[in-house]
Amino acid sequence: MNIRKIIIAIDGYSACGKSTTAKETAKILGYKYIDSGAMYRAVTMYFLDHHVAVTNLHEVKKALASIHISFHVNSKNVTETFLNGLNVEEEIRHMRVSEIVSQVSTIKEVRHAMVEQQRKLGKQRGIVMDGRDIGTVVFPDAELKLFMTANILTRAFRRQKELLDRDYLVDLDEVIENITNRDRLDTTRTESPLRKAKDALEIDTTHITIDEQVDEVLRMAVSRMLKN
Ligand code: CDP
Repeated sequence: MNIRKIIIAIDGYSACGKSTTAKETAKILGYKYIDSGAMYRAVTMYFLDHHVAVTNLHEVKKALASIHISFHVNSKNVTETFLNGLNVEEEIRHMRVSEIVSQVSTIKEVRHAMVEQQRKLGKQRGIVMDGRDIGTVVFPDAELKLFMTANILTRAFRRQKELLDRDYLVDLDEVIENITNRDRLDTTRTESPLRKAKDALEIDTTHITIDEQVDEVLRMAVSRMLKN
């Protein structure tokens, strides 16, 4: 039987369960998992820590040249994000980063630098990547493209619980405001806005469990892996 390695691109709004689905699918298939949002978050953290003025293109370009982002799988088989050799997996999820990440993500130079790295990571295929522009810009030739949605309250509760599981308590109103603002910025920016690729399959995750989401993705992935 001819089984080929494919690219699975998962896009959608904030906190729809993209990362959880992507991680689990990658684990089962033995694929690499890349959280492209973590890359934008790491850039944002660097900008904040180094007081980079996001409106100053010269400063932005200089900073981008000093940023090295990598992913490492830890002993619990969890992929963690590293910024210039430091594990930033926890810190990039904090609200100070969430509050401006979508603004940083509108910058063309930032996007170009990230997209270049993301394409390198997917060169050998056998990868699941989640984000906002994976099926539209990063891998327009991905064999499987998904677009995830869910209602706002479900998303906010899920995100609040996820943060609480990391011992980080955030008010539900603050979460709702943050994801609403990010959705708005992500869908209206000029450079690669969040939108469903024409050939993407939409999954509304409001009333389904993570296991059901993963089963659905795996079913679709397997059919593409067997196609010539
Ligand atoms: O909070 P959530 O997990 O939904 O977001 P994320 O995947 O961590 O991404 C954080 C932010 O990075 C998004 O709100 C976007 O502004 C930006 N992003 C992007 O512009 N393009 C991507 N491919 C991934 C994330």
